[in-house]
Amino acid sequence: MEFAAGDRSYYVRVLVVTGAGVSAESGIPTFRGKDGYWRNLDPIKLATPEAFARDPDLVWQWYRERRQCICNAKPNAAHKAIAKLAELADEFLLVTQNVDDLHERAGLSRAGMVQIHGDIFKTRCSLCSFEREHDYEHNGGPLPRCPRCDALMRPGVVWFGEPLPAGETERVENYLQRDSCGVVIVAGTTATFGYIIHWALRASHRGGELIEVNPEETQLSQFATQIVRERAAIALPQIVDQVARS
Ligand code: OAD
Repeated sequence: MEFAAGDRSYYVRVLVVTGAGVSAESGIPTFRGKDGYWRNLDPIKLATPEAFARDPDLVWQWYRERRQCICNAKPNAAHKAIAKLAELADEFLLVTQNVDDLHERAGLSRAGMVQIHGDIFKTRCSLCSFEREHDYEHNGGPLPRCPRCDALMRPGVVWFGEPLPAGETERVENYLQRDSCGVVIVAGTTATFGYIIHWALRASHRGGELIEVNPEETQLSQFATQIVRERAAIALPQIVDQVARS
């Protein structure tokens, strides 16, 4: 990577894609890791419309605990490095699969980021379009109901089998359509979803670097031009420092 803020010789567009591994060192369990299970339940089975229809109390308990865990957590060195990279780059977009607010709390603006799987601190109606932002409520008590239609409210996240939020997908598409990227970093994700691999490949397709940061191999590894088998909180500050110095 040969760019730095200020007097570098060429324009740099960056795409960063993050997953649960980036928040792991802030103490937030990943989905598929060994700590992912909650009360012996597989999160992959809890994060579904079917689970909510069957047992909304249970699903809300899980999300309320996750909200509390996130509220108690602090951004780590990986979140901070990504926020710094956003300032160094000429054009920057983060696509995060994380529903926590740690990228934002590390200093990244909402304009520079797409939360493609939603926002855990949003609560929205399961029936109509009513929604509430910045809802940090995580104590027990009766399940929230929509003040407009009285249906059950649900967390503002994307569940398995649900479409991605159209507005957010459009923001990613617009960024990718405008131009390709010189630097693409994919950190802390198993890259299970086809669109994650597709976006990373599309962004780097004209000779850009595709850097994977993950202690383990993923489906994306075969396409990476650089692989960093290291924890995100160690690797990302080094990558960004290298960028800043060059
Ligand atoms: P996963 O839990 O599937 O994967 C976490 C990834 O992070 C794994 O590849 C780990 O090897 C890696 N990892 C763990 N610790 C790390 C660290 N300290 N530094 C870097 N990498 C580390 O989480 P995601 O890939 O984010 O979707 O999962 C994608 C989506 O599937 C989630 O957004 C969620 C989930 O089910 C929905 O809920 C729709």
